[in-house]
Amino acid sequence: MIIRNRCIPVYAIYASLAVFKKGRYCAYVKTSIIHLCANAFDETVHEAVSRIRNEEVVIFPTETVYGIGADAFSETAVARIFEAKGRPSDNPLIVHIADEAMLLRVAHKVSIAEKRLMDAFWPGPLTLILEKREAVPNAVTGGLSTVAVRMPRHPFAQALIQEAGTPIAAPSANVSGRPSGTHLEALTEDFDGVVPLIIYAGPTEHGLESTVVRVYEDEVVILRPGTVSPEMLQQVSHLPIRFGSAKEGAASPGTRYKHYAPTARVETASTVEEQLVRYKEAQAAGERVALFMWNEDVLLAKDALVFPLGPRNDLASYAHHLYQYLREADAQKATLIIVPKVAREGIGTALMNRIEKAASI
Ligand code: TXA
Ligand code: MG
Repeated sequence: MIIRNRCIPVYAIYASLAVFKKGRYCAYVKTSIIHLCANAFDETVHEAVSRIRNEEVVIFPTETVYGIGADAFSETAVARIFEAKGRPSDNPLIVHIADEAMLLRVAHKVSIAEKRLMDAFWPGPLTLILEKREAVPNAVTGGLSTVAVRMPRHPFAQALIQEAGTPIAAPSANVSGRPSGTHLEALTEDFDGVVPLIIYAGPTEHGLESTVVRVYEDEVVILRPGTVSPEMLQQVSHLPIRFGSAKEGAASPGTRYKHYAPTARVETASTVEEQLVRYKEAQAAGERVALFMWNEDVLLAKDALVFPLGPRNDLASYAHHLYQYLREADAQKATLIIVPKVAREGIGTALMNRIEKAASI
């Protein structure tokens, strides 16, 4: 791994031979990490673009989670994404675009309701499932006739796609089945020695992935809840909102696989009292317990492995920290993680979705 920080030049080289990593068998590559900073923004974009043109994969920041991206029109490059993640080949990727001209290169015309959603939430954390153009390789869409499209808001993601001049296919940057990468330790844990370049711009803003929707004439179906809430979708589309059924989930293959899971078990608690009772029971039974707690409650759990979520009911702060804490709890060898439940309103819908997946409820 080579770490480069162009603001303060720091070079560190680690010789490691990561050929078999978390179930993936990959040839070892030397990983460069560039810490993004304003005075070297353009150079960093050029470097990432040259990798994309070379059909390599690049880990880059978005406002939701980090993406592991490659040229969406190159089958060779797209195959490298699947290989690096250990991702099943029938689980399709999101294609990231920078403008409307790129949208038309990957998808056919859009409906009025789809246009309203794009105008309101793009660039931003919303992914739309659209009829795909022939030119999009089947490898990107897992053989489906549709393609998932998103215009990210992060300035680096925008510049990368714009300058590469090609849509970028990018799933979340994590080994398949692990919590999405939102901070540096997660990215190096999963991809050091596997991908050639990581562009690091600090922990991601939202911390949860985009909302994935399919828009029909008379309704909007949420295939994956995310930062854009059902209430926001309803307000803008003027259509009823529905959560995808299990059958529709099969058409969004990512929902079939075990996801967002740490190694430790995850349990939920409705109140801090319930959380503390479970903590004491589990500790007495020999478990190493991690507690994710609102800041106001932290002092109640003296001697416990505590992860502060932010001020009570600050759901954005909870979402921002969730994946990082799940991984840190694993790193600290917790066997059980007890987290607070939240109301299924606004981003709470997406938060409870991810927590339940982590808990396999
Ligand atoms: O915020 C995000 O969405 C991040 C950043 C990097 O943009 N990306 C991300 O990608 O979370 P990924 O691959 O981890 O999740 C994409 C989800 C999967 O559940 C996949 O099955 C679904 O979108 N999907 C992709 N193409 C689809 C399609 N044509 N039809 C239905 N679902 C699709
Ligand atoms: Mg993912």
